[in-house]
Amino acid sequence: MADATPHHDDDSLTHGKTFPPPADFQARARCASMEDYDRMWHRSVHDTDEFWGERAKDLVWIKPPTKTLEYTWDSEGRTIEHTWFADGVLNVSANCLDRHLGTPKADKIAYLWQGDDDAEVKTLTYAELHREVCKFANVLKGLGIQKGDRVCIYMPMILELPIAMLACARIGAIHSVVFGGFSADAISGRVQDSSCKLLITANVGLRGGKHIHLKNIADEALRDTPTIENVVVVNRAEEECGWVDGRDHWYHELMADAIPDCEPEPMNAEDPLYILYTSGSTGKPKGVVHTSAGYLLHVKLTHEYTFDVRDDDIYWCGADIGWVTGHSYIVYGPLANGTTNLLFEGIPTYPDPGRMWQVIEKHKATILYTAPTAIRALNRSGDEWPKKYDLSSLRLLGSVGEPINPEAWLWYHDNIGGGRCPIVDTWWQTETGGHMITPLPGAHTLKPGSASRPFFGVYPAVLRDDGSECARGEKGKLCIRKPWPGMMRTTWGDHDRFMDVYFTAFKDLYFTSDACRIDEDGDYWLLGRVDDVANVSGHLIGTAEVEHALVGHPAVAEAAVTDIHHDIKGRCLYVFVTLVDGAEESDTLRGELREEVSKHVGPIAKPDHIQFAPGLPKTRSGKIMRRILRKIAEGEVGSIGDTTTLADPAVVDQLVAKRAEMKGLPAPQGAAEGFCKDTPKTS
Ligand code: WT7
Repeated sequence: MADATPHHDDDSLTHGKTFPPPADFQARARCASMEDYDRMWHRSVHDTDEFWGERAKDLVWIKPPTKTLEYTWDSEGRTIEHTWFADGVLNVSANCLDRHLGTPKADKIAYLWQGDDDAEVKTLTYAELHREVCKFANVLKGLGIQKGDRVCIYMPMILELPIAMLACARIGAIHSVVFGGFSADAISGRVQDSSCKLLITANVGLRGGKHIHLKNIADEALRDTPTIENVVVVNRAEEECGWVDGRDHWYHELMADAIPDCEPEPMNAEDPLYILYTSGSTGKPKGVVHTSAGYLLHVKLTHEYTFDVRDDDIYWCGADIGWVTGHSYIVYGPLANGTTNLLFEGIPTYPDPGRMWQVIEKHKATILYTAPTAIRALNRSGDEWPKKYDLSSLRLLGSVGEPINPEAWLWYHDNIGGGRCPIVDTWWQTETGGHMITPLPGAHTLKPGSASRPFFGVYPAVLRDDGSECARGEKGKLCIRKPWPGMMRTTWGDHDRFMDVYFTAFKDLYFTSDACRIDEDGDYWLLGRVDDVANVSGHLIGTAEVEHALVGHPAVAEAAVTDIHHDIKGRCLYVFVTLVDGAEESDTLRGELREEVSKHVGPIAKPDHIQFAPGLPKTRSGKIMRRILRKIAEGEVGSIGDTTTLADPAVVDQLVAKRAEMKGLPAPQGAAEGFCKDTPKTS
């Protein structure tokens, strides 16, 4: 993706307009000036023991640590290890729940749950949540789950989801949440990789008025997961689902006589808290492992500083808990800070495109954290929708998941934030655990499209391929120079893979796979992925996984997946497939191929465009030239570059001609010559 040029990297649109911190933030924020920020950041990366030793006191310890960071990053010696607070003992669920008991926060609402249906609302105070978590922790123990066991959670956005996660944390079990939109294949692959003993699901999930039969999907997955001994099923709505006697249990039946006291298990700071799978550029998803203390401190601190959280906030992170954003900023960070979280079961466009704004008005949300793709989609639905609702409760907006283009930023700022709310554009990754580069609303002057500055403890470098540092304004690859507390420790069961993926491109540095430039002022601009991972609507999709699914179809001989610009999704998948002899090109086959991808990877990975290709551009050694395919897909034929190394350069012309016959393609992006001139704009 190195040569895809996202057009947010262009401040001409905003005429260089900047937004200094509003007075209220300057007066009240925890970090309220550039001087404060610079001083704190400097200490956080250079005086690690002092800074982080002090911050560690923000957590409740069973045994406080005497150590902070210890690490060895030696790419050549194949040793990549880092620990934070390694001799400390604590329990994450106790830090999210018990610490608030006996304080005024006990009776504060922890979760304000808004159902898909407007009429359905439930609340849980911190004391009530503590009780439910203790009960479910005892249920887990009763089912034979012990410290270190893996538990897979495949659930919709209901209160039982954070309860299940926290119950695992309470007894030291490692949860592995699989997003409720994933397919049976995705579940079984993940369950097998970490040999989960138990699966927690719901009979159905409700989204946008539709019922999704999660339990039946899980049943299909469980055909080849021998390690699963028991399945716990939440009854979300009165609906039938498959049932295996002895293996399957209703949540409400198990909870009916569960004891509401459960001592939190003492955990070492470095004991794993959870595994979360993320797509990579090759092969199967990687199980990112996060541990207890460093992760918790990172998400607590970022939640506090980035969102400038205050006691009376009604905070709404619109992500699904199935992604890291939900883990860190709907569950662990906000609960550790005792914040009231809005938990929304539905989707932004149901029953109409005013839903998010209606939810904000109804519950008087003060902070909204969502993704550029949602902002663009709602912008597209028209300004009349947000205008219908009173959004004056909002005081801060957040963005996450992909680069935000200045148009979307400005629309969000003016139409949702009423021109008064700062926007924190938070760059981070599943691997990083929490925010890495983000503005702090009381300190930083915002530039639409820039994620501003590194958070405390984050020491980045923007490098050329040879490892030398880029000049100001020069695009390069973003690396991080030393460990930060929330950093992943390994990929589950495969430390070599962890070192290969993150520590071989640049010696002794963590490589993010993102392109970046630092401007004259020192602000960071994130410019998209540089590996074979596509960011579709803020979700990462490994192109290799999609290719694997496609070649599983009997009509497909070969497939190559690339991604192109999409006005709403940011990027979308554009697939080239070569058929086996005798197979017919047709729209019916396109439909079947989409289904194949949906089944094996998940509905979010369905390709937008499928181009049948008589052949693919390959080098003489048989390597597919993806750079060329991307140019063809984007319609940028004028800049395809050198094709002389191809085994058969004529393939390119054939593909270009075939692309011209494709329906529904966006206009070529930024192409100046050749192909785009004689291609009719079909969108
Ligand atoms: C990738 C990580 C971060 C949690 C959700 C996604 C892209 C994420 C931003 C942003 C530009 C962003 C990067 C990153 N990304 N946030 N604010 N600006 N790019 O987690 O699925 O692990 O994806 O998302 O490319 O590497 P993830």
